Amino acid sequence: MRVLVLGGTTEARQLYAALEQRMDRFKVTVSLAGATRAPVLPALEVRIGGFGGVDGLRKWLLVHQIDAVLDATHPFAVQMSNHAVAACAQAHVPLLRVERPGWTPVAGDRWTRVSDMQAAAGALGTIPRRVLLTVGRKDLLPFHHAGPHDWLLRCVDAPDPALLPAGTRLLLARGPFDEAGEEALLRRERIDVIVTKNSGGTATQAKLAAARRLGLGVIMVDRPPVAPAGTVTDATAAMMWLESLSE
Ligand SMILES: NC(=O)c1ccc[n+]([C@@H]2O[C@H](COP(=O)([O-])OP(=O)(O)OC[C@H]3O[C@@H](n4cnc5c(N)ncnc54)[C@H](OP(=O)(O)O)[C@@H]3O)[C@@H](O)[C@H]2O)c1
Repeated sequence: MRVLVLGGTTEARQLYAALEQRMDRFKVTVSLAGATRAPVLPALEVRIGGFGGVDGLRKWLLVHQIDAVLDATHPFAVQMSNHAVAACAQAHVPLLRVERPGWTPVAGDRWTRVSDMQAAAGALGTIPRRVLLTVGRKDLLPFHHAGPHDWLLRCVDAPDPALLPAGTRLLLARGPFDEAGEEALLRRERIDVIVTKNSGGTATQAKLAAARRLGLGVIMVDRPPVAPAGTVTDATAAMMWLESLSE
């Protein structure tokens, strides 16, 4: 059975590990966007780069005789997920989304929930604050026009300096992060507020617990809407789905 996995997340690696154990049954290609300079690669066939929109993906599925697609992209990678829904429908290929649940606030959290990055920038207000931005490199534009804040941007790869709000300091790091390290960072940098996407999962969750302990605010950007598709939350359920298709 030929399987395409749309990957690119820490959680997708659990899926790769499960698939590596079943190479007798599944011939897997993992697809990455090519956005990360030094991605962690699985011991599976990997292709890198976009497909060329819905049409490109549909053709790729047909040429490579793909029997099933697992969309394990990030919950904010909605363009890729929408393309997968459309291309799989057109090519009559079964699709399953593997998506970790979003984070939900617990007692002690001081979250402000917003619908997008623009609203996140607005929610910071105009009084200068020390902000830890963990939103990724692509979503910085709205913060250029936000108040006179002190920005610390944490991301995997350094962005083009032109994309950075004035005076931004960079912290290059790749999760997973632990609570002790996150608390130390927040204290050392005297952070007042964190801006984050509601990515869910465990790799970057520790900052939320550290913020809770220190009584810091978190501006939480909700997940964008995405085309509906059958969804599971973990690799085990995804493997069961694949096994059921191949019976
Ligand atoms: N957005 C985030 O916050 C975030 C965080 C962590 C990891 N990631 C990962 O980084 C990648 C890019 O994210 P994004 O937000 O830029 O995606 P996006 O906006 O949904 O996708 C933009 C375009 O990039 C290409 N693409 C995206 N994921 C791909 C994949 N796995 N394989 C092949 N092509 C892919 C597609 O190009 P074509 O139209 O040419 O096919 C897609 O139309 C994704 O794989 C995602 O899982 C994203």
